[in-house]
This record gives sequence, C-alpha cells and structure tokens, in this order.
Amino acid sequence: MSTLSRIRRRLPRLTGLQAVAMSAAGVLCAGAAATALTGHTGVATALLALLGGIILAGLMLLYRRLAKVQKAGLAAQRDLRTTVEEMQRRLVAAVERERLTAGDRHLELADAIARVKQITDRKAAASQLLALPREFEATMQLFQGFTPRAPMPSSGDYALNPTDLLELLHLVRTRQPRLVLELGSGTSSVWIAYALEQSGGRLISLDHDAGYAGRTRAALAAHGLSGVAEVRDAPLTPVGIEGRDYPWYDPEVLADLHDIDFVLIDGPPASTGADARYPAMHMIEKRLADRATIVFDDAGRSDEQAAMAAWTERYEGLTREGELLGRHAVLAFVRPPAMATARA
Ligand SMILES: C[S@@+](CC[C@H](N)C(=O)[O-])C[C@H]1O[C@@H](n2cnc3c(N)ncnc32)[C@H](O)[C@@H]1O
Repeated sequence: MSTLSRIRRRLPRLTGLQAVAMSAAGVLCAGAAATALTGHTGVATALLALLGGIILAGLMLLYRRLAKVQKAGLAAQRDLRTTVEEMQRRLVAAVERERLTAGDRHLELADAIARVKQITDRKAAASQLLALPREFEATMQLFQGFTPRAPMPSSGDYALNPTDLLELLHLVRTRQPRLVLELGSGTSSVWIAYALEQSGGRLISLDHDAGYAGRTRAALAAHGLSGVAEVRDAPLTPVGIEGRDYPWYDPEVLADLHDIDFVLIDGPPASTGADARYPAMHMIEKRLADRATIVFDDAGRSDEQAAMAAWTERYEGLTREGELLGRHAVLAFVRPPAMATARA
C-alpha cells in the first residue's frame, strides 16, 4: 500500500485533491526541514515558498467553496420563501372561498327563514280569518247574555278573546262562585263582574302594573261594577318556592282572602320571567275553598303545561277537567277530607 493510500485511509473524509495537497505539503515540510538541516538553505527557502503557494491555493479553493455554499444557502432560502408565500396565498384563497361559501349559505338560510316566516304569517293570518266567524258568534252570545251600561273594553290580544270569555262566563254562571280571584286584570274583569252581579258573587282582581290596574278600575266604575269587583295593586315581589325565587304578586294583598271558589290565572305575563305563573297554586292553595274551579289561561304554552303537571303531581285533589277549552285549561280542586277537617 502506497503512503498516499495510507494517508487517505487515515483521513477518509478528504477528497483526492485534498489528500494530494496535504501529502505534498507534508513532503514539502519534510524536504524544507531536511535541506535546512543539511545546510541547503536556498533549497529549503524554495520548498517553503512552494508550501506557502500551496497553502494560498488551498485557502482560495476553500474561500470559493464557502462562497458557493453561501450562494446555495441563499438560493434555498429564496426557494423556501417562495414556497411559504405560495402556501400562504393558497391558504388565504381557501379561507376566502370558505367565507364566500359560508356567506352564500347564510344568505340561503336567511332566505329560507324569510320564506318560512312568510308562510307562517300567512297561515297565522289565515287562521285568524278562519277564526273570525267563531269569534263573531261568541261576541253575539256574550252581548245577548248582558246589556253593558257603558262601552265594553276590547277583547283579544292581551285580553281574553270572545270564545274564551264565553267559556269562562259559562263556567261562572253554572258554578256560581261566591269569591272569584283573578290574576291579571283587564277586559275579563268587567265581564266576570257582570256575571257575578247576576249570581251574587264578588271579584278580587290583582294587577302587577299600576297603570293597567287603574284602567280596569276605571272601566269597572264606568259600568257601575265597583261594588262587585275590586282591583288590587300587587307589584311583583320575589316569592321563594322550593329554593327558587319567582317574581309574583305581593302575597300581602291576599292576606284577607279565604274560601276562594273560582280562580282565573291570566298573569303575570310571560314577559316577566320564566315560569311566571308557576307560583300561583303554591300561593293560593291554603286560601281556596274546599271545592274550587281554576281556569288557567294560555295553558297550551310549555311553561304553563309544566306548571300544571307539577301542581297536579303535588296537590292531591287537583285534577284536570277534560281537554283545553279554547286557550284555557280547567282544573278542579277538591280538598282531601283529612285536610278539610284539619282546616275546619
Ligand atoms: C294577560 S294580561 C290580563 C288580561 C286580562 N285577564 C283580560 O283578559 O283582559 C296580564 C297582564 O298584562 C298586562 N297587560 C294588559 N294588557 C297589556 C298590553 N296590551 N301590553 C302589555 N301588558 C299588558 C296587565 O298588567 C295584565 O294584568
């Protein structure tokens, strides 16, 4: 094996040219040393000059290689930047496409909702139109039963509509209650007062809104019914039931009421809070007569359905009478004999 091969084996990472250069440098060093030691200083100097030349050439080669590496690095950086920019552009385009699609979907959805609303509005208008003959017939029957002494306040909207009033008055006339409690005053107060005037009962109506209470009081006075019906201001106050506070009529205004044998629950309005009418049964149960009729308006709504289910579960003797009568549910209350005796 030649010296050059041995050196290459020892330095396996050197290229052929580098190994030759290193070997030549080694030989030159050795030559320079030998000639200097033997007194041939001229030859030694020449060998050192040659060695310097080789070193300089090596450095130049190294510099060129480094410059190439740096150039390649810069080119790779440029490529990377281009790739990243391209990916960013694609990402932005994809997001923009998604946004436009979502926008389209939103428009489609809004359009569909508008169409459904149109159909629902049309249906509501159509069902109101269809209800007109029924409401007209009920109005005729209401006015045949009574001759009002002043213009009657309007029915419908917040007030009971004629068909519900007709059913309500039929119950009042047939059951002839002595003391009616109404939760939520208005047009119904005047009609109930007319019915009680004939049968000899009394109405106490609560209103949480002083303005509406005043209007109902004025209507009752205009009809000469103030002796039959009284409207009480009952601002909503928190009442605690089973660990939860509900805004309900101030219970103080019920303090003097006993043996209530007919109740119309038509307030507080749903806008005053969730389960607005749930406290009613809890707050009046002990003030009811041993037998009472409870008319619950808007009984088709989910809050009212839940309230009725909870009441009939909790109060023995409270049962539903048949299906909904218009918007009303009618409940019969019969105090269990043991509790009736305890009260007596
Ligand atoms: C459902 S309303 C009671 C209606 C009454 N029982 C009748 O049939 O005329 C319940 C409460 O809503 C309030 N109210 C009445 N008319 C209203 C209206 N047009 N807008 C907002 N609140 C009203 C009053 O305070 C009333 O006691």
